Amino acid sequence: MLFRVIIIFLLICSTCACKYDAIKPNTTALPIENNIIIDGVITYNSHIKKIIDYNCKACHSAYPINQTPYLETYEDVRIEAMYGILKHRVVDEYPSVMPPNKSLSNYEKQLILVWINQDCIE
Ligand code: HEC
Repeated sequence: MLFRVIIIFLLICSTCACKYDAIKPNTTALPIENNIIIDGVITYNSHIKKIIDYNCKACHSAYPINQTPYLETYEDVRIEAMYGILKHRVVDEYPSVMPPNKSLSNYEKQLILVWINQDCIE
């Protein structure tokens, strides 16, 4: 009986060890809730544009609401990122969260952080 318990214990240990192996070193992840790991190069055109278009552009463009800052082009979004304002509003939710009253998912926030950290590649 004791032998069986020991075998089961060892099996559980080895399964856990595999999980740790699965976490790759050299990722570009930054620490954030839920410890989401994002690997590889994040670019505006392949990752960030669709998040901004879907969640921000309705207000932050010339038509119909005309709310500045405009977030219509790569250059618009890069400028907000460069001055730290994008991170403040979307990730730190400071002084208030954007989009108003509803924040992006942790995954989307993490993508934006990594994009900023990699110097806002187009
Ligand atoms: C429902 C409309 C609406 C949506 C959607 C929205 N915003 Fe805003 N945003 C506003 C308004 C109104 C202001 C000005 C008032 C304020 O600063 O809170 C603002 C202000 C900002 C500012 C402030 C700039 C500064 O100079 O302080 C940034 C940056 C910003 N929004 C980014 C975003 C981003 C990024 C998204 C999408 C993830 C987003 N907003 C979605 C309405 C919106």
